[in-house]
Amino acid sequence: MKRTAQQSFLILMLVIVSSSCKDELPTGAIVFPESNVSYGRHIEPLWTQKCLSCHQGSTPPNLTPPSYTSLMTYQPQLVIPGQGYNSLLVQMLDGRIGPPMPPTEKLNDNQIKGIMTWINEGAQNN
Ligand code: HEC
Repeated sequence: MKRTAQQSFLILMLVIVSSSCKDELPTGAIVFPESNVSYGRHIEPLWTQKCLSCHQGSTPPNLTPPSYTSLMTYQPQLVIPGQGYNSLLVQMLDGRIGPPMPPTEKLNDNQIKGIMTWINEGAQNN
C-alpha cells in the first residue's frame, strides 16, 4: 500500500512532536531498582515530579533540588537511616500516619518500596 502525501506529513509531524519532548521531565512513573537506590537519580526526580508543586518554599519541607539537606534536617525527623519502615517519611507516604503525602494521589508501591530501600541502605546523598 502506497502512502499518500497526507499520511507522510502526519507521520513526519508525529516524529517531530515526540522527539521534541525528549528533554522534559519524565511524565511516566519513575521506576526504582531493587537495590542501590540513588538520591540524585531516583528520589530527587520523584520529589520534583510529585511534591514540588507544593513543597518549593511556602510549605516545608522545601524539596527544591538540591533537597537532601532540607529533607534530612527537617523537624520532626523524617528519615532514620537504616530504618525505612519506621521512618516518618515512609509512614506518611504509605498512609499509616496522616496527612498522607502526596495528599491526593498516592505514590505507587514500587516508589514507596524504593524510598524504603534507600533509607535501609543508609539514606546517603548518593
Ligand atoms: C497538593 C500539595 C502537596 C503535595 C503534592 C505534597 N504535599 Fe507534603 N504537605 C502539604 C501540606 C499542605 C503540608 C502541611 C500539612 C499539615 O501540616 O497538616 C505538607 C506537609 C508535608 C510534610 C511535613 C509533615 C510534618 O509533620 O511536618 C512532609 C514530610 C511532606 N509534606 C512530604 C511530602 C512529599 C515527600 C511529597 C511528595 C511525595 C508531598 N509532601 C507532596 C502539601 C503537599
